[in-house]
Amino acid sequence: MDIKLPKGTHDIIGAEAEAFESIETMLKNVVRNYGYLPIRTPIFEHTELFTRSVGDSSDIVRKEMYTFDDKAQRSLTLRPELTAGVMRAIVENKLDATAALPIKLFYTGPAFRYDRPQLGRFRQFYQFGVENVGIAHPYQVAETISLGYEALRYLGFESMTLKINSLGDGPSRDQYKEALKGFYKNQLSAMCPDCQARYQTNPLRILDCKVPTDIAINEKAPKISKFLSPNAQRHFNQVLAALKLQKIPFELDDNLVRGLDYYADVVFEFNYKSPSGKSYGAIGGGGQYNHLVRELGGQPLAGVGFAFGEERIFSVMTEAGLLDDHLPHIDAVVMPLDEKQDEFAFTILQNLRRETIASESTFDHKPLKNQFKFAEKRGAIVALIIGDQEVKDQQVTLKNLNTQEQQKVAIGDLLSAVEKVLEQEGHHHSSGGGDGCGCDGDCN
Ligand code: HAM
Repeated sequence: MDIKLPKGTHDIIGAEAEAFESIETMLKNVVRNYGYLPIRTPIFEHTELFTRSVGDSSDIVRKEMYTFDDKAQRSLTLRPELTAGVMRAIVENKLDATAALPIKLFYTGPAFRYDRPQLGRFRQFYQFGVENVGIAHPYQVAETISLGYEALRYLGFESMTLKINSLGDGPSRDQYKEALKGFYKNQLSAMCPDCQARYQTNPLRILDCKVPTDIAINEKAPKISKFLSPNAQRHFNQVLAALKLQKIPFELDDNLVRGLDYYADVVFEFNYKSPSGKSYGAIGGGGQYNHLVRELGGQPLAGVGFAFGEERIFSVMTEAGLLDDHLPHIDAVVMPLDEKQDEFAFTILQNLRRETIASESTFDHKPLKNQFKFAEKRGAIVALIIGDQEVKDQQVTLKNLNTQEQQKVAIGDLLSAVEKVLEQEGHHHSSGGGDGCGCDGDCN
């Protein structure tokens, strides 16, 4: 077969998939402390949801969406991010009108962008994010930024940078857009066609441009910080003061505008540069959105949120050696020497599994040397060898693969004997079952 992965996608298998799951579990532990509940929304939505929220003038909507017509000619789009779907769900399920505020939801799942694949950039990637909707106080913004910071600390990140900026409120941005138009008017002919279009639709988006000559022009452009209204400036100062109160370091970054149109007021990004100098791009980013819920037909609720890129977290943690050894290990291998012992071996194998002792058998009846090699590859601690004599005596030869010690164990004592060896060798399995967990009562 000659069919390969679509460009920009990747398979996540075995140990790597376990690592993704444990990253998600650790993040869930942190967000639950902040009162977040999970939400799952569809992977595809009506295209209009994204054009109206992420915005017509964003690169995501203009160039990066996987959009298709279904068989009834509805235009659908694979979600390029999850915030829009979460807001639609809040409005559609009337949470904005009935739930206690703030509504705090977290999610994890794939997102799709027709981006140019490179280090840390995929066309299907996983996000873990939170949305805090119905906020009324700058501390709720600071709390959400702190959550992102604390979550990365909990994963073991040490040197990350939190960049932060304010895009101001409506009046601030209207004035700023006018100033940008004035600035770009005479430079436009030297700029890329995309920027010429952005000039008409949303001059703020020109600041996102990645074309080197445009980046040089952008450096001289007016900065939003000079256009913040007194209200927006006060709000920004309060958020910064709350971060300082918690000793969360940040860098003010005038150039941080974020690529999605729904943002207003405070926006932020978490960046990380590895010791080897590799940069995987932003690890996560987010900000406030003050009109999204209302624009989708709901109550006028302000919100704030962010999302992490799980692939980027995984890469950083792998490089920094922060992930445990996630080799999917098993506890025991059952080794019948001949097919005559298969029935006896199979019964034992299934009994072990029922008692949550992760077990395997190849039933290949190869010489023990080969079966031990298989056990080693799978990280097993216990070998259970079964020959004719064992079946006759209703016993099993139990070998501790770490110490090489061997003993004969009567079938009735097998579970507790296996658990004892696993305990001795520091191999914890998930729970005990009938025989107790073998941990001397200190496992709760
Ligand atoms: P975003 O900055 O577009 O924000 O994406 C969030 C994170 O997703 C990025 O920081 C990055 O780690 C990861 N990411 C984005 N694109 C790719 C890609 N092509 N390959 C791998 N990882 C990627 C949002 O999506 C907003 N919805 C965040 C938010 C939530 N704002 C408010 N609430």
